[in-house]
Amino acid sequence: MNQEYTFTFDKTLSCVRIQEELPPIARICADFESIGRDHVGQILLVCDTNTAYIARDILGTQDRPLCVLPQGETAKTWVSVEAILSAGKEAGLGRDGLFIGVGGGVVSDLTAFAASIYMRGTGLCLVSTTLLGMVDAAVGGKTGFDLFGMKNLVGTFYPAPLIYMPLASLPGLPKAEWKSGMGELIKTGVLDDTGALLEHLRLLGPEPPDAKDQAGRERLFAGIAGSVQIKGRIVEADPKETGAERVRLNLGHTFAHALESAVGLGQVSHGEAVAWGMVRACELGYALGITPGDRGKAITSLIKGWAYETRAPHPLLEEPGKTEAFMRALEGDKKKKAGKLRFIVPCTQGVQTVSAEAIEAGLVERIICGTLDTSL
Ligand SMILES: NC(=O)c1ccc[n+]([C@@H]2O[C@H](COP(=O)([O-])OP(=O)(O)OC[C@H]3O[C@@H](n4cnc5c(N)ncnc54)[C@H](O)[C@@H]3O)[C@@H](O)[C@H]2O)c1
Repeated sequence: MNQEYTFTFDKTLSCVRIQEELPPIARICADFESIGRDHVGQILLVCDTNTAYIARDILGTQDRPLCVLPQGETAKTWVSVEAILSAGKEAGLGRDGLFIGVGGGVVSDLTAFAASIYMRGTGLCLVSTTLLGMVDAAVGGKTGFDLFGMKNLVGTFYPAPLIYMPLASLPGLPKAEWKSGMGELIKTGVLDDTGALLEHLRLLGPEPPDAKDQAGRERLFAGIAGSVQIKGRIVEADPKETGAERVRLNLGHTFAHALESAVGLGQVSHGEAVAWGMVRACELGYALGITPGDRGKAITSLIKGWAYETRAPHPLLEEPGKTEAFMRALEGDKKKKAGKLRFIVPCTQGVQTVSAEAIEAGLVERIICGTLDTSL
């Protein structure tokens, strides 16, 4: 299994390679040169403590500098960016240098950000090693890190010209991370206008396929490929989210971000919060007459059947003051988006955007509290 997709982000071409094996370092350098970039000078691999073994496998016998960051969202800070920049300087990277991020969304966002500011922009390649990274974080050019308690407060747009998604990196992924990635994969399935990806996901199922299950691995491969193509096309049409396209990727996210913020970052994984948010989006869309009942039911039952938390109120919102914290977080989201709070809801095919002003007062709160009977 080996598939290549190319997309443009403004004028930058991104080449995504979904493949079975890890790419050896010599292959990465040769591929980077073959996609029309300059000669590759010095390189620096960036990984975290959990993906260092993958980065070492990529290096094989080659002795190249490696910057190992702490793992997880708490490491998505300026301190890590500085560590990458410092290691880049130490390794002698010039403008023809290449940063190679080997890891999930945290490593890819950090490495891409560092590459975007190092000498005003240098070479960047991502080797995505989580399901969430493959179906979401590695594609689309958003980079960044968390600051002052706000996720991705600082960032740039800097698409990687070369991205690998090796299935061989996935077996070590913890179950919770798999489930988180699957949440985002379902989201892409729901916003796919053709409905084909969602149908495919029903065959794929929620569990990672066994190493010996070739048919299961092929289905996984096709699921990742489908998601990459859909996200790639959306990003190509609206790279910097200035139009109406890229915002569709936020299906379930308005609810998810408010949940994550109200209960505290890390209490619920992002993909699980998105799954919960999609069920709320179905309820909202149904109440507004946009989501047909049978579509809302089909999406909700898939999410429920895959053992995501779907109840309203979310058990973590049942503590006193949490619903209020949720509503405050929604207001905070509105400020971040220049006063334009929008919900994305499923429609007959794909999704549709609804402005918060078009929603009657109290409806969202009733949905969150579970007091609106939608019978979905
Ligand atoms: N740039 C974007 O467009 C975009 C989109 C979605 C999410 N993101 C960002 O992505 C981040 C979340 O990404 P994530 O879920 O991949 O988190 P992550 O990078 O923290 O990875 C999750 C965990 O899995 C470990 N891990 C990674 N690969 C592994 C492997 N192959 N085997 C074993 N363990 C492995 C990591 O060390 C970490 O502990 C968030 O910071 C989010 O903001 C960015």
